[in-house]
Amino acid sequence: MSKAQPPGIERILFTEEQIQQRIREVAGEISERFRGRDLKLIGVLKGSIFFLTALAREIEIPIKVDFLGISSFSNRTGAPGVVRIAKDLDESIEGEDVLLVEDIVDTGFTARYLLQTLAGRGPNSLGICTLLDRTSSRIVQVPVEFRCFEIPDRFVVGFGLDYKQLYRNLGFVAVMKRD
Ligand code: IMP
Ligand code: MG
Repeated sequence: MSKAQPPGIERILFTEEQIQQRIREVAGEISERFRGRDLKLIGVLKGSIFFLTALAREIEIPIKVDFLGISSFSNRTGAPGVVRIAKDLDESIEGEDVLLVEDIVDTGFTARYLLQTLAGRGPNSLGICTLLDRTSSRIVQVPVEFRCFEIPDRFVVGFGLDYKQLYRNLGFVAVMKRD
């Protein structure tokens, strides 16, 4: 069944098939890297839950899942780099191998804040896995261990990414029209 392309969408950047294929590859890399260890995926609400669930189902080792919620005011929406935790993790990450799962790393402020905060809680290891990476917008450097796609400097929606809370449920990633 094909869904109509919603208004506001300029073009599809990655199709559902391309995304699934790439997620399978990255999940394979993660399974290899963490085999025999205690891996926990931490999703950043709300955008990353679509990617996290798709990724988790392709990972072939036992994993735990937890979530945290943030409120952020990135350079696209207001004062740059102000991030705080609005909903904390349910469980400790002490001694665990942790992958922070993001929908997109843009300026890097969110990822840097979360890495710094979580590093203080004594995980055995801590890394980032992101669906999308816009390195051309980076203001602060953060290590991205696993990435599905690099994207151009355009606003995108779908597969968890929103415009005014809409479009998260699109199965593809698309570029928004410029207005
Ligand atoms: P940061 O700039 O790396 O801190 O990213 C902050 C957040 O901005 C991301 O987690 C997304 O929620 C949001 N964001 C950045 N670029 C886009 C985009 O192109 N579409 C939708 N959300 C975006
Ligand atoms: Mg986000």
